[in-house]
Amino acid sequence: MATNAQSLYSPVRTESSSASDPSLQADPPSHLTNEAEARTVAIFGAGRVGTALARVLVDAKYDVRVVGSGPASGIDLIVSVMAPGAVAMDAAAAVTGADIVVLAVPLHRIDSVEFALLQDKVVVDVMNYWEPIDGSLPDFAGVQATSPVVSDLLAGARVVKAFNHIGYHDIATDSRETGHPERRALAVAGDHDEAVALVLEMVHRVGFDAVYAGSLAQSGLLEAGGPIFGVRLDRAELERHVTQDAPARR
Ligand SMILES: NC(=O)c1ccc[n+]([C@@H]2O[C@H](COP(=O)([O-])OP(=O)(O)OC[C@H]3O[C@@H](n4cnc5c(N)ncnc54)[C@H](OP(=O)(O)O)[C@@H]3O)[C@@H](O)[C@H]2O)c1
Repeated sequence: MATNAQSLYSPVRTESSSASDPSLQADPPSHLTNEAEARTVAIFGAGRVGTALARVLVDAKYDVRVVGSGPASGIDLIVSVMAPGAVAMDAAAAVTGADIVVLAVPLHRIDSVEFALLQDKVVVDVMNYWEPIDGSLPDFAGVQATSPVVSDLLAGARVVKAFNHIGYHDIATDSRETGHPERRALAVAGDHDEAVALVLEMVHRVGFDAVYAGSLAQSGLLEAGGPIFGVRLDRAELERHVTQDAPARR
């Protein structure tokens, strides 16, 4: 299948479309409810990918908090509609006690996140540099991988790249139980073993085979325009890309 970066950015699901879409109202697939180890995730960004992740994480028995660009009251409704069971919270409260923080804001808005709150946190960077949306960002333009830049900005956080190469609209629909012949694989890249392990577990629990793709410096493999971006791959196919296409290990 050809890489299709544009398909990751199809229009946002509206409240009315979610209300009429039966796939959004069904009980969670049983494979998402089996493993119930308590973990708390704070997601920054109640947009397309933030709410899609919130939904599958709730189904996978995570305690999910969602942070908006303003006060929690401003996203209460969208969170309750798009990810029932997740809770809208203000940033400081959401990160307190969170095992994992997900940054699902547009890259050009990253400076609006209070970096000090993320010190010592495991931070999942789902963000892509996408010039039509982000404009020209000198710090990110032309880099092989954006996550090392994010990691430098978030000094003290343990940044892991994941979930950036799947379209928000595929997150719930492509989720499958372990061993299912159609189970899709997603890549995870990072430098800190414990942080990577938490995110590999998260990918697995929400219904995908999790494949370690190397360090943050190597995460260019996951970037927009790269060979795995927006492409449905199983574990063997993704592992082949990691072996053949990833930049040299450092
Ligand atoms: N769409 C996809 O399929 C997809 C897939 C993988 C990765 N990504 C990447 O994920 C990121 C988000 O994409 P998206 O499509 O979800 O964007 P989106 O639909 O525009 O949502 C972004 C959300 O972030 C919020 N936000 C902005 N600054 C914030 C802050 N400081 N704290 C908390 N929330 C904040 C925005 O709130 P306001 O509206 O109030 O400003 C908005 O609700 C992008 O970097 C994108 O490249 C997207």
